[in-house]
Amino acid sequence: MNNVIHIPVLVKEIMNMMKGDLKVIVDATCGNGGHSYLIAEEFSGSIKKMFCFDKDAESLEIARARLQSFDFIEFVPQSYTHIAPTLKNFGERATFVLFDLGLSMWQIKSSGRGFTFKEDEPLDMRFDTRKGLPLYLLIKRLLPEEIEEILKTYGEVKRAGKIAQAIVRERKRIEINTTLKLVNILRDIGLPDSEIQKVFMAFRIYTNKELHELVEGIRSATDATEKGGRIAFITYHSIEDRIIKRLSHIKGINKVKPYPIFPGEEEIKHNRAARSAKLRVFEKGVNNVKETDFAVIYSMVSSFPAPFTG
Ligand SMILES: C[S@@+](CC[C@H](N)C(=O)[O-])C[C@H]1O[C@@H](n2cnc3c(N)ncnc32)[C@H](O)[C@@H]1O
Repeated sequence: MNNVIHIPVLVKEIMNMMKGDLKVIVDATCGNGGHSYLIAEEFSGSIKKMFCFDKDAESLEIARARLQSFDFIEFVPQSYTHIAPTLKNFGERATFVLFDLGLSMWQIKSSGRGFTFKEDEPLDMRFDTRKGLPLYLLIKRLLPEEIEEILKTYGEVKRAGKIAQAIVRERKRIEINTTLKLVNILRDIGLPDSEIQKVFMAFRIYTNKELHELVEGIRSATDATEKGGRIAFITYHSIEDRIIKRLSHIKGINKVKPYPIFPGEEEIKHNRAARSAKLRVFEKGVNNVKETDFAVIYSMVSSFPAPFTG
């Protein structure tokens, strides 16, 4: 397995948004530490503490090795839903928080967990292999209508009903426990690669409860951020971006312009993974953010397929 390191996106643009007091930084999605490294290097004079979260403990180990020269970093191999309690334990408030959503190139190319339909790997798809169920077990348990709903909502997949039926039919015959077995089912019903990619994305979002955790993570980060502190989001998916956009409806959270920011042509030329990225930055204002105001984002995810709990 080749070891591909993720290239961080929109670095210059994020740095431009990092103004004022930069004492306590949170990288909510540290991955291989690409952004963390550059931020730690640039602002080492003013950073008192930096918290690097990632629910993928293996990714975070790579970051730890790369960032070992910075003694102000705390590595937290947990979901970003833990930002508020973690900072509270350290008696800190965040002055800048970065969320770089989605998955890393390392996870796609080197983790061997079935994130890509282009390799034959175990059908796991979990960021955090210590928790939850791998996709091949979820696929065994889901009802056909649940599979259809997941594919429609998270992937905008065409013919979602037909795909769900094909999966349910095949799972009676074989255990669909590798990416290749899933791909063969999809190819047999005539799905082109572009649609297969969407099926994989939809299942990944479901397996990792990505949007449900995003909403919790936003709340946790907002609770942990000082007034005047900033929270930046890089999104790659239209539903993620719709959730983030709604934050500007919350009193006490102000959008920072320009909004949104896209990568330039030069960056996209060198890193194709950046092509769908969008950066939106918010500042915590002087008004207290009320718990009930988060209803504008909770109401969105409440209509999405519920995470598997059984
Ligand atoms: C696009 S990558 C981040 C790459 C990183 N900025 C870098 O430069 O190396 C997204 C990361 O978010 C992590 N992630 C996804 N959901 C998470 C969650 N709920 N809590 C913490 N990390 C999460 C993934 O495991 C992945 O490593």
